[in-house]
Amino acid sequence: MSTYYDQVQEAVRAINAVDRPTVGVVLGSGLSAFVEQIDEPRVIPYRNIPNFPVSNVEGHKGDLVLGKIGAARIVVMSGRVHYYEGHAMSAVTFPIRVLAGLGIKTLLVTNAAGAVNEAFAPGDFMIITDHLNLVADNPLRGANDERFGVRFPDFTEAYAKTARDKLREAGQFARASVREGVYAFLPGPCYETPAEVRMLRTLGADAVGMSTVPEVIAARHMGITVAGLSVITNSAAGISKTTLSHDEVKEVAGRVQKPLRMMLARAVQSLA
Ligand code: HPA
Repeated sequence: MSTYYDQVQEAVRAINAVDRPTVGVVLGSGLSAFVEQIDEPRVIPYRNIPNFPVSNVEGHKGDLVLGKIGAARIVVMSGRVHYYEGHAMSAVTFPIRVLAGLGIKTLLVTNAAGAVNEAFAPGDFMIITDHLNLVADNPLRGANDERFGVRFPDFTEAYAKTARDKLREAGQFARASVREGVYAFLPGPCYETPAEVRMLRTLGADAVGMSTVPEVIAARHMGITVAGLSVITNSAAGISKTTLSHDEVKEVAGRVQKPLRMMLARAVQSLA
């Protein structure tokens, strides 16, 4: 019987990356314009990669794109699967295991998030300094495969300071409004209640979303350096009078594509 590790290796072999990428990028909901920046792109639909999980959420594409930005060799996930779709944590993190197999040393992960911090505004970017895993599950639960990493990995600096510094510089370069803060991961798929948002604020969260943390856990398990960036698409529930919708999230995400792609292009070159 093939193990999870074997399935990852099978996907890595199928992708057959001749030039090994050094940086991986995960593009969140409605944040895929960055792929247009990639030189010499090689696009592989997820469905053509063995064992790769495929999303069915509207607005979430599913392509792996290998290529270059300047001298940096990168591999980009345009679209990801989410825990709320019903996937197991092992499926949500499978692509990250594959990116590591392709050779990445650094992962830049992006997402759309709601602002818990009342000083943040829609359209701001937030460099993730740390996270709260508020989902009672963990991708490392179960037997540990030492070929990936240790049983009890350290998470003191999940989001590397060096990577945060590079993101900050890239944000200045793109003249973006860049904040910093803690990302709280909730399972979704419903948006939070105002009471939950107050709870999150009490817990020390600055932004909330339904992704990223599983991928970061898997990446850190394998010793990959992580940089995380949230696009603040809305104030979290109860902060403004308006109700929340996926359309609003997509609309705001669409509006910041220009500074975002500029910031990401700059960041991947310094992270490489
Ligand atoms: N809550 C959770 N996830 C989100 C939000 C939010 O307000 N906005 C974008 N993703």
